[in-house]
Formats: sequence, C-alpha cells, structure tokens
Amino acid sequence: MKNIIISPSILSADFANLEQEARLVKEAGVNWLHIDVMDGHFVPNITIGPAVVKSLKNVTDLVLDTHLMIENPEKYIPSFVQAGSDVLTFHYEVCNNLSHATDIINLIKKSGVKAGISIKPATPPEEIFSLLDKVDLVLIMTVEPGFGGQEFIHDCAMKIPMIKNNSPDSLIIQVDGGINNLTSKICTSLGANSLVAGSYIFSAGDYKKAVQSLL
Ligand code: DX5
Ligand code: ZN
Repeated sequence: MKNIIISPSILSADFANLEQEARLVKEAGVNWLHIDVMDGHFVPNITIGPAVVKSLKNVTDLVLDTHLMIENPEKYIPSFVQAGSDVLTFHYEVCNNLSHATDIINLIKKSGVKAGISIKPATPPEEIFSLLDKVDLVLIMTVEPGFGGQEFIHDCAMKIPMIKNNSPDSLIIQVDGGINNLTSKICTSLGANSLVAGSYIFSAGDYKKAVQSLL
C-alpha cells in the first residue's frame, strides 16, 4: 500500500461526541482529521469555527486538516492557527488574482502550518499551476462544496493527473467529496495521495473496515 493520507471529514460525525469520534477514527488507523469550515457566504451552509478546532486540539493528536470554505480567509487564518489547525486549505475562487492567492499562502506558511489551496469542480486546474510549487497540498473538490453525502463528480478526477504532472513530488494531492471504496481507487490510481471521506466512514458501523476499504 502506498502512503495514502486518509482524512475523515467530521462534517458527518456525531457533533455531540467529537472527542469519541476522533478517538474512534484514530483507532481505525488514520492520522488526519478533516474539518470543514463554512461561512454561509462562499457556500450556502454554516458549520465550524476556531472554538471547535481548539476543543478538538485538546483531546486529539490527529493532524487537524482544516478546509476553509470561507470568504476573506486571511481575516480568520490567525484564529485557526492559534486554535491548533495543522493544515489550512483555502479556496482559490475567493482570491482576486494569483498574487492575492500567493499572499494568503505566505500568511499561512509564515504561521508555521501547512498551506493548501482548493479548487471547485468548475475551476480549471491550469489556473493554479503557477502556485503548485508554493503550497504543501492541493485539494481537488469532487463535489460542489457545501454539504456532505453528495455524489462524486467523475469529470473532476481528470484534474488529478493534470495537477500531478505539473507539481513537485512532495505535493499532497487531496480529493474531497463522494469518496467511497470505489471512487477512492479511481483517485489514487490517477495520482491522489490523500482522501477525504465523511459520510462513507462515519455512517459505517465499523470505521476501521471503512477506512481500510478505501486503500
Ligand atoms: C463538502 C466538504 C467535504 C464533505 C465530504 O463541502 O468539503 O469535506 O464533508 O463529505 P462526503 O465524504 O460525505 O462527500
Ligand atoms: Zn472538505
């Protein structure tokens, strides 16, 4: 098995028992936890803020992989860093231009955490080629951001080799949305090395079995 980073999305976890959910996915063999931050502007849903990240930081040593689906990410990055995010991924679509995106990447990296950039299904990967040597992670959305439990958009998977062929070997190429035991294989065979999965893992009776079936 290659080194695939699995990052369960707590969007589909039991919000009343996040400590236990984090423990259970860790016992299932994962090292990362994906936290979906939504502001009701960039996406039509509202979810989690820095306070929840801070609470999780106190009870887990999983890598807190924070997906910012928000406008003005620069305004909130310091709070998420302080709360304990280890990876901060923002959306290219909220940037005015490439130089703005570079400023956000620099802000994240200067804070000592990993920087990721994400593209929505309609965004062509070519638009971020010039940023690929500046980030640690690229998150290719394989559903429209906003909600868990949606169906994988197959056309988005073709972006994986395009990103891979234009990036340094060290880049983490993550996919997010509609990942299950079948779509995970499509993505990893095309070059993805990180899988976000929410409903598939958290609706399973046996998290370990679900995690292993992704590989
Ligand atoms: C969607 C989020 C995803 C979501 C994935 O906007 O970014 O992380 O939780 O959920 P599933 O795996 O259920 O598609
Ligand atoms: Zn996400």
